[in-house]
Order: sequence, then C-alpha cells, then structure tokens
Amino acid sequence: MSQNADFFVIKARENGVQVIGLTRGSDTRFHHSEKLDKGEVMIGQFTEHTSAVKIRGKAVIQTSHGTMDTDEE
Ligand code: TRP
Repeated sequence: MSQNADFFVIKARENGVQVIGLTRGSDTRFHHSEKLDKGEVMIGQFTEHTSAVKIRGKAVIQTSHGTMDTDEE
C-alpha cells in the first residue's frame, strides 16, 4: 500500500530543520524526528504508520498539491 503512495520532498533552507512524523490511527503522537541541515533533502511518503508530518524551521516542501515554503518573511 504505502510503497505506491505519493512522495513528498522537503528541502531545508537553514540548519536544524525538523521533520516530525505523526502516527496514524486514534492516537496521534510524534513517532519520528529527523533533523535536516541547510541544503539537505528528505524524500518521504505517508505510510500505514505515518498520517501527518510536521515541519519546523525554514524549508521548501513539494507535494502533489503544490510547492510551499514554511517561512513567509
Ligand atoms: N517508519 C516510518 C513509516 O513507515 C518512517 C516514515 C515514513 C516517516 N514516512 C515518514 C518518518 C515521514 C517521518 C516522516 O511510517
């Protein structure tokens, strides 16, 4: 199932960007935290374990819904 899911791309625009995975199901909690430094890219998917992703810090995010930036300044 998750092998065929869409990928999303996160590119860090500063050091220490956090990519936090939240669990799927009735209990929504953090289960994974990944730190990206400036210029690092993470390519991920939503899976049976991961229903949401929270991003802290300046980053560019690409999904099938479009491209967005976490910083508005
Ligand atoms: N083991 C996790 C999973 O299969 C890994 C993972 C997938 C993940 N997508 C993620 C972690 C996005 C953080 C963010 O669900």
